[in-house]
Amino acid sequence: MSELEANNIRGEIKRITKEILRLAAERRSLSLKIGDIKSKLGLEVLDRRIEAELLNDSLKYAEELGLDRDFTRRLISLLISDSVKAQEEKVDRTKEVGLREIFYMALELEKSGRKVIRLEIGEPDFTAPIDVIQETCNALREGKSRYLSSYGIIELRRGIAERINTIYGTDFKPENVLVTGGGVMAIYISIQVLSSLGDEVIVPEPAWPLYRQIAEHLGRRYVPLRTSLEDKWTLRNGMLQENVTDSSKLLIINYPNNPTGRALSLHELKNLVEEAHECGLTIISDEVYSQYYFHDSYAPSIVQILDSGYVLVGSFSKMWGMTGYRIGYLIGEKEFIDKAAYILGLMITCIPEFIQRAALKALQDDEYVKKNIEETKKRINYILNMLSRNSLIKVYPSDGTFYLFPKIDLPAFNSSDFALNLLKEHSVAVAPGSGFGPYRQHIRLSAVKPIEEIKIGLEKLNQAISLLQ
Ligand SMILES: Cc1ncc(COP(=O)(O)O)c(C=O)c1O
Repeated sequence: MSELEANNIRGEIKRITKEILRLAAERRSLSLKIGDIKSKLGLEVLDRRIEAELLNDSLKYAEELGLDRDFTRRLISLLISDSVKAQEEKVDRTKEVGLREIFYMALELEKSGRKVIRLEIGEPDFTAPIDVIQETCNALREGKSRYLSSYGIIELRRGIAERINTIYGTDFKPENVLVTGGGVMAIYISIQVLSSLGDEVIVPEPAWPLYRQIAEHLGRRYVPLRTSLEDKWTLRNGMLQENVTDSSKLLIINYPNNPTGRALSLHELKNLVEEAHECGLTIISDEVYSQYYFHDSYAPSIVQILDSGYVLVGSFSKMWGMTGYRIGYLIGEKEFIDKAAYILGLMITCIPEFIQRAALKALQDDEYVKKNIEETKKRINYILNMLSRNSLIKVYPSDGTFYLFPKIDLPAFNSSDFALNLLKEHSVAVAPGSGFGPYRQHIRLSAVKPIEEIKIGLEKLNQAISLLQ
């Protein structure tokens, strides 16, 4: 009797589940209709006010029904994501060529024997200092190639903590540091530890595309906050508050910024961080370009402002030219570091010791970093000077990094088509702005080639832009 009863109930559950799916399909087709209207009116797909209204209404109703708040939040987030995805597919049917495609095409052209001027690359042209290379070889010879702790070797964790403490007057201990496989892994793990499925990750744009890719890969909702060159790439006052909902968990900031070269003054950083804190957001501060700062030795850091509620992402890639070593770090509270180390252990067990030894050696060579950043600054100034000769180009003058993100002042400019054509016809590679958000009028230029090469590249660029008029 009771087994029969259970089967009847199971049948009822099946029916209800199907009904939920039918309603989801109906919901989706309504979303598509709205997508059509938005497309006709030229409106953005994302409408945070409507989303917040829907979420709040649903939470109230769920409470009346006795449903769990967190469950409701996730369910609504999933439904909203589905609508946004459906609408984005409708609105944006054209396939853009991204940085990756330009990068591989440039490589292919080089392989075929063509000289290509590579201004699209996101890594410096210098490699690790010679003593770092030697240390790597020595460490390998000494057998520093065994499994070890997921946290990283204590000497390196201490070295990183001390470096930050010396620069910013903080008091980090080795237990606040996790050695990671570059900044990428640090960001991946941070998002995983600090948020849950369906949570929102807020990112000011233009932004490094991996924030979106990682967040979405982990089933989080990526929420961009658009800034513009006209506003000096600054988040409008109150913009964060307007965009935060009950599902917002993280804010990722990246100053000095890839791709704009914008850094925040300590005052600006403080305002932004405090606003984020008031909104209940945890902050991931990606400071991999911290020393690429043209107004002082180091860019302002989140560690100067907050004691908790954030994690810092650092890397050896850009500063010491160690991109292929794949080594970076996370700084945060011990509880966070413990959780992050656990995940790192599941991914890769540990970062190879010979690479950690190399990084430890690199920490001792600040002069090398300074010399390379001086050279980068010269190149950036050179590019700025060349760009200023073209009245169609507008650009933020840069506070740091090795990037510039100029805007081509032609309404129909399409960075993707332009980058493709520039590469094919003029053998110059640049990164299309559309890879960093809806910035079709922009391109990203990297100052990672000697000035003589940059000069030829920019002459061709200016020429190609003039032909568009
Ligand atoms: C803003 C930003 N963050 C993090 C990274 C990751 O660098 P890595 O993983 O080599 O440390 C990059 C690399 O391009 C970057 O531009």
